[in-house]
Formats: sequence, structure tokens, C-alpha cells
Amino acid sequence: MTGKVALITGAARGIGLATAKLMLGRGWQIAMVDRDEEELLAAAGELDGARPFACDVSVADQVHETLSAVLAAFGRLDAVVNNAGVAEFGPIEKTGFDTWRRVMATNLDGVFLVSQAAIPALKETRGALVNIASISGLRASTLRVAYGTSKAAVIQLTKQQAVELGEYGIRANCVCPGPVRTKLAMAVHSQEIIDAYHDAIPLNRYGSESEIAELIAFLCTEQASYVTGQIIAADGGFESTGVGLPALRT
Ligand SMILES: NC(=O)c1ccc[n+]([C@@H]2O[C@H](COP(=O)([O-])OP(=O)(O)OC[C@H]3O[C@@H](n4cnc5c(N)ncnc54)[C@H](O)[C@@H]3O)[C@@H](O)[C@H]2O)c1
Repeated sequence: MTGKVALITGAARGIGLATAKLMLGRGWQIAMVDRDEEELLAAAGELDGARPFACDVSVADQVHETLSAVLAAFGRLDAVVNNAGVAEFGPIEKTGFDTWRRVMATNLDGVFLVSQAAIPALKETRGALVNIASISGLRASTLRVAYGTSKAAVIQLTKQQAVELGEYGIRANCVCPGPVRTKLAMAVHSQEIIDAYHDAIPLNRYGSESEIAELIAFLCTEQASYVTGQIIAADGGFESTGVGLPALRT
């Protein structure tokens, strides 16, 4: 046991659950936060050292109650992984304000609220924030006016946090995953999109939940003690591709 505690949002499934399992295996205790209570309880029930906390990260009152409950349960907080996210894709002209707000509420407001509520506890441990954005926050694409903009904002929010919280020893970093076959991605990726991603990504494949979790876990540890304010893609090289025209390949 490291004796350290991490709070992971969106931990009921996908990348958040993979991160919880990986960090538990490395001796962390985990506060698993998710708004899908049924899936959360089922996932946490199988894991020693983890406790479930049902919470919608976009609702300020729920976030404050959850942070209090996590601290009462574990007594300390060393890392926060802001991973809860939603994806809704559509053209700009057909993206209603309700859709825009739903995406911003979880993807951006949630990161702001959970991070802010965690600051007093993280000051005591000189802890770490790891925010999960996306390759869609680094590269613009069609259909992602709300999702991509929310993730670009998370990238800037991470830098704001790093600059302002560094004096307390709190580090803030951002992970930008490329495509991973989770429920979130499969709801918006057709077979045609999957094939096109494989073609455009230098490693020619999707990533796995555990490959993203490895980077998140590293950024939470002392091994990353001089790393803050960084935006790191785990994307098979997709972000580095520039002109990338198929016609330019030999
Ligand atoms: N899967 C991908 O291809 C991919 C790519 C880039 C970035 N991401 C990002 O990775 C993160 C995890 O995504 P995933 O693919 O594992 O998705 P997922 O849908 O499998 O899991 C997301 C979890 O977040 C929870 N959640 C959603 N809104 C919430 C809220 N308001 N409050 C609390 N919990 C909430 C869901 O209930 C779910 O358990 C997201 O931020 C996503 O945007 C995913």
C-alpha cells in the first residue's frame, strides 16, 4: 500500500475504471465517483480498496458533498483524475444550446468544480490533478463543436491550474486520449470512422483503456514530481501528423 488516495471521476466504466484498477494494483486507495449509480456500485463491489461515491460532477452541491464524504472516508486526498465526460456530436447549425450546455456541464464545469473543491485537501498532500481532455481538444474536426471546444477549454483550464497552484506544490497535467473503444466512443464512431482513424493514426489502431490509464497513473505519482502544466497525448501519434495526405504516402 502507498497509503495514498486518488479520486477518479467517471470511474464506473471505460478509461476511469481501467485507471482505478491499475492504481489499486499499485497500492492506491480509490474514491470511485460516477453519476451512474448502478454501474458504479457493480464495478466498485468487485474491487478491494475502492469505495463508490454517486455524484454528478456538473452539480456543485453534489460535488461539495462528495468531497466531504471522500475525506471523511479516507482522511486524505493525493490525486484527482477528472475523467468523467460525455460526447455528443453534430454539425454546428444543428447543435442546440441544450446539447452545448450538456456537454460543457460535464466536460468543463465538472472539471472546474471537482478540482476547486479538492484544492484544500491537495494543498495538504502537495497532490496532483490529472484532467482528461481529448485529441479533439488539440485538433479541430467536423461534428465536434461542443465536444472539441469543451476539451480545448479543459486544456487551458489545466494550464491555469498549474500556474496558480504550483506554489502549493500541486501539479496539474492533462491527458489527451486518441480513440479508445469505450461505450462513449462506440456511440459516436461508425465502422467508417473506425477505419478512417486506423488509416490516419501512425500506430494504425485504437488505444486501449489500460494504455491511457498508464499515463494517467504516472502523472499522479512522485515519479512525475517535476511535471506540471503539460498536455500529453496518448494517441498513437495522431496529434503529430501534419499534412498527412494519403496521396503523399509512398
Ligand atoms: N473513448 C475515447 O475514444 C476517448 C477519446 C478521447 C477522450 N476521451 C475522454 O476520456 C474520458 C472517459 O471516457 P470513456 O471513453 O471511458 O467514456 P465512458 O462513457 O465509457 O465512461 C465515462 C463515465 O463517465 C460517467 N459520467 C458522465 N457524465 C458524468 C457526470 N456528469 N458526473 C459523473 N459521472 C459522469 C459515465 O457515467 C461513465 O461511467 C472522457 O472525458 C472522454 O471524453 C475518450
